[in-house]
Amino acid sequence: MRTYALANQKGGCGKTTTAIHLAAALAVRGERVLLVDLDPQGHATLGVGCHVGRSTSLVEVLFGEAEASAAIRPVAPGLDLLPATLGLAEFEEASVHSLAPEQALTGSLRPLIGRYDRVVLDCPPRADGVLTANALRAATHLLLVVETGSFALQGALRARAIFEDLLGLGGMPTLRVLATMFDRRLRFARDLLVAMHARFGPEMYDTAIRTSVSLREAVASGTPVLHSAPRSRSAQDFLALADEVLADEIEPADAPLFLSLEA
Ligand SMILES: Nc1ncnc2c1ncn2[C@@H]1O[C@H](COP(=O)(O)OP(=O)(O)OP(=O)(O)O)[C@@H](O)[C@H]1O
Ligand SMILES: [Mg+2]
Repeated sequence: MRTYALANQKGGCGKTTTAIHLAAALAVRGERVLLVDLDPQGHATLGVGCHVGRSTSLVEVLFGEAEASAAIRPVAPGLDLLPATLGLAEFEEASVHSLAPEQALTGSLRPLIGRYDRVVLDCPPRADGVLTANALRAATHLLLVVETGSFALQGALRARAIFEDLLGLGGMPTLRVLATMFDRRLRFARDLLVAMHARFGPEMYDTAIRTSVSLREAVASGTPVLHSAPRSRSAQDFLALADEVLADEIEPADAPLFLSLEA
């Protein structure tokens, strides 16, 4: 079970939009996918049209009061959701009193091995919180989502350094960088993408997610573009990203020694 944490310490850079659509695209490609909303804002939950109400959600699962399977909702063929509510913030607050709170998600996902091929984790816009720590602990891959705006390269390098610090040298998941909100009409955005490829090399996905109004609308309406507009440019972008993700099968434990030393 490959687990992808979509993260950046910066808010509003496209983490949730990417998490929803990468998960949906992987499902379209035939994978059994679980999207986990690790943000108390619950945007990934709303973005796939799920309203939790008083039903079980991630917070009960992390506190050990419910099994993950009791909180999981079907969203589309091949795609399930482990939803979040505002109550998830309580886990962040309570964690100061618990032992190893950052291991809760890993433990909760363990019974799901064999049920899903891919798990996509939508992280909150906070690198140093216990919810992000849970995602990093559970992840086989850390996808740094970078908005291709001003200072994007500096922001991406800073985010990478922050996550490397948080993870220490030992447990680093495979790091990948994804450019999003890319507007190819802008000269500076094109130059930026070239600079990011030069800096991050093979860590960087070839696919850049383009800016699209319909993508904004899709998240707001609770229906991913993969379902509402499967032929759209955005759907094609996320299918291309899913294909790259599926082709990227080296796990940290399998990585040849020279790769570990280079990292
Ligand atoms: N490719 C895109 N094209 C156009 N708009 C986008 C794109 N990706 C994201 N957005 C818009 O940018 C805003 C922020 O996106 P999103 O919520 O995905 O970011 P986030 O990093 O998850 O934010 P937060 O840090 O609050 O969790 C939203 O209004 C979203 O619709
Ligand atoms: Mg978000």
